[in-house]
Amino acid sequence: MAPIRVAVLGAGYWGTKLCREYAGIEGSTREASLSMVVDSSEAALEAVRAQVGRAGRVFSRDYQNALRDRSVDVVHVALPSPLHYEVARSALEGGKHVLLEKPMALSSREAYKLASLAEEQGLMLQVGHIFRFNAALRMVRQMLHRGRIGRVYYATLEWTTDDIPSGERDIVFDLAPHPIDVLNYLLDEWPYGVDAVGGSYRRNREVLEEVAFVNLEFPDRVVANVYLSWIQHDGKNRLVRIVGSEGTVICDALNQVVTMYTSRGTSDIPQALFPKLGLNNGDGGWHGKLEDDPPGPNNTIRDMELHFIDAVRGRAP
Ligand SMILES: NC(=O)c1ccc[n+]([C@@H]2O[C@H](COP(=O)([O-])OP(=O)(O)OC[C@H]3O[C@@H](n4cnc5c(N)ncnc54)[C@H](O)[C@@H]3O)[C@@H](O)[C@H]2O)c1
Repeated sequence: MAPIRVAVLGAGYWGTKLCREYAGIEGSTREASLSMVVDSSEAALEAVRAQVGRAGRVFSRDYQNALRDRSVDVVHVALPSPLHYEVARSALEGGKHVLLEKPMALSSREAYKLASLAEEQGLMLQVGHIFRFNAALRMVRQMLHRGRIGRVYYATLEWTTDDIPSGERDIVFDLAPHPIDVLNYLLDEWPYGVDAVGGSYRRNREVLEEVAFVNLEFPDRVVANVYLSWIQHDGKNRLVRIVGSEGTVICDALNQVVTMYTSRGTSDIPQALFPKLGLNNGDGGWHGKLEDDPPGPNNTIRDMELHFIDAVRGRAP
């Protein structure tokens, strides 16, 4: 089967990582080929060309070139978020499948329009909700489905780092899509109530929050708190804690480590659930470090891209 031809639009911090993985997929599976990389900055293009340049691969400064090129099947949009809606809309209208980085759009109305357009056109539209491809979170979902945590009471999620964001980014638009999607994914529910407070301290501009506390209400009295910060000094954290009637599970999604605690001090998680995790009992909890494959730790970007290629080929939802 011919490789699916991908153009990555935006070769900044994230787009460069995406390009490296497509190039890896091209080299190892032939499922997809990275046929074009676009960035309006010559310096960004040069930097990515140095990493993934090869004969025949096009590097362009104008994303219209990718949209016009009939040989491009898929565009993966990693441009600044304010461009997402317009570029994804033009790509879908032009018959391209679209993998669109989060946030999908800057309003739910625009997001809805993109979803309808993809449906009308019979094209795939996937949002870069990368944590759905994280093996540790997949394991937590499996634990929830198997009733290991019992009835879910509440969840707390921490998405923090010490970072000076580039451009006019607001932390709610930039980071909240991840933990909120993680909650939707783990609970199989959507929140019906949301409130939030936030603050801007370093930049001191009200519309550019750097910290936010978001409270969400889900059906069956499940509540969740999402804590977002770009000014917490202890490094990057991507933590999910779920408290239920049978215990508390803590997932360090960055390092792919899952820990389960119960009030009995020991857990009755059968070894069979985590055949390759090397579970050991310590500090009153069971620690499972995902060390092997399967289930992980996995390369989430590569798995997200392969999933999309499968979807385009009609082999995955
Ligand atoms: N899924 C994730 O975990 C994840 C992680 C990081 C970023 N992202 C998303 O990826 C997107 C890009 O983020 P980033 O951190 O790489 O930003 P970035 O600023 O590093 O990169 C954006 C790139 O787009 C280029 N660009 C801007 N306007 C352009 C235009 N009109 N035409 C062509 N190129 C243009 C810039 O030159 C820059 O190189 C954002 O939407 C962000 O939310 C997702």
